[in-house]
Amino acid sequence: MDSGKQLTGTLALAVFTAALGSLQYGYSLGVINAPQKVIQNHYGRSLGVLSERAAVAPENATEEEEFQEVGSHPSVVMYWSLSVAIFSVGGMVSSFLVGFVGDLRGRVKGMLMVNVLAVAAGLLMGLCKMWKPHIMVISGRAVMGFYCGLTSGLVPMYIGEIAPKAYRGALGTLHQLAIVTGILISQVAGLDFVLGNDDMWPLLLGLSGAPAVLQSFLLPLCPESPRYLYIVLGKEQEARTSLCRLKGPCDTTSDLEEMRREKEEADKEARVSILSLVVSSVYRQQLFVALMMHLSQQLSGINAIFYYSTAIFAQAGVSQPVYATIGVGVINTIFTMVSVALVDKAGRRTLTLIGLGGMCCSAIAMTVGLGFQSQFPWMSYVSMSAIFLFVSFFEIGPGPIPWFIVAELFSQGPRPAAIALAGCCNWTSNFIVGMTFPYIQVWLGCYVFILFAALLFCFTVFTYLRVPETKGKTFEEIADVFQKGRKKPAQIPKDDAELQQLKSSTDA
Ligand code: GLC
Repeated sequence: MDSGKQLTGTLALAVFTAALGSLQYGYSLGVINAPQKVIQNHYGRSLGVLSERAAVAPENATEEEEFQEVGSHPSVVMYWSLSVAIFSVGGMVSSFLVGFVGDLRGRVKGMLMVNVLAVAAGLLMGLCKMWKPHIMVISGRAVMGFYCGLTSGLVPMYIGEIAPKAYRGALGTLHQLAIVTGILISQVAGLDFVLGNDDMWPLLLGLSGAPAVLQSFLLPLCPESPRYLYIVLGKEQEARTSLCRLKGPCDTTSDLEEMRREKEEADKEARVSILSLVVSSVYRQQLFVALMMHLSQQLSGINAIFYYSTAIFAQAGVSQPVYATIGVGVINTIFTMVSVALVDKAGRRTLTLIGLGGMCCSAIAMTVGLGFQSQFPWMSYVSMSAIFLFVSFFEIGPGPIPWFIVAELFSQGPRPAAIALAGCCNWTSNFIVGMTFPYIQVWLGCYVFILFAALLFCFTVFTYLRVPETKGKTFEEIADVFQKGRKKPAQIPKDDAELQQLKSSTDA
């Protein structure tokens, strides 16, 4: 078998271990939704907030009424919103540090070091009943967000660097598969008869630190990225050993040759910092494509579905919206698997185009369904099916591809800075959608998804015009696509004679 197409046990172990970080990210994204009422009630109790009815005549207050009143108390609302939003703030800040952490001691040690944060965050939330729960949960979520900002960059960077060219897409998509599996586990664990109840919710939140413990045992068994060893540290022999561990006994000459050329390129220029990447005209096109792909992932409105699906399903007339939300999680996971199978055959560009175009049509269908369901009750089936289709199309391409394509678009020199910038763009736009969606929903009512449909249409056109195919190409070949795309500098004539000469050559 072609050594470039060999999947070894060590490679599988390395990818699995890294993806535990993504699982943790997905779990933390999803875990806060289901137990909202239970946690708000607890906050209310520890803040000394009682529902009016319970304060005057506790025996007359039903549990549901008490929940509703406590949940809308201004202090509870504030602490609750902070508990949700602080996670993204932590991620926005730390995503800038991905390059620094990855280059400091290498990708493997970087992932190992940051696990301290995940365990600390898990403990803060798991033991929150021991002190003021709202303060403990908010601190834990902030630290966990900080951890996830780092891990959401380090994992695709490591996997992108160790994956054989032929499987780079499929292995890169495993990052997203682990995220969606984490979301699904948190949705199921958050059901009230599992852990989403008054006694167990701290454990539900605290468990978000668990994958980090397992990952810490496995990481020392994983080989360091050969690209980091050779290109960043210049350690050829160690890079060769690492390559042999990842690929099995094989000839490493062609891999080392590819890395040598990349190293030559990287050595020609000073280390690419985030600032120099932003101002450099050399990487402008790649950077534009990378940031637009992350923007299209978030501004597609996917997290509006994830954060508010229960409310959206209730609006669409579903009697048990929590289970419909779990259904979304299941569909999400299934279609990410479809993407794993397709991405190295169909290609990144095709899947992103199909995904974005399909999401655009689904968003229109969702709006029609929601808009007409009061006149025609069967329309609620249209809106529900549209939600499922929207999520399926997302996972085919726009969900997984932006995460790993950044590592493909950039060579070793600018890669860490590019991943940091793209990560920050992702976290910031995620935060903006999360914060503004409820207001936009009030403003646009059932037409809210038309806004996302319009954005999706623009992103589809952008992808068609500007995103190149990266499937099966070396990092060097991908860089060449952008070099060729860059216009040659306009020729400025020195004098009249040269101007005449230029004119006649263009006329001819
Ligand atoms: C992607 C997005 C994330 C979203 C998830 C849903 O990983 O980055 O924000 O929640 O997909 O599957």
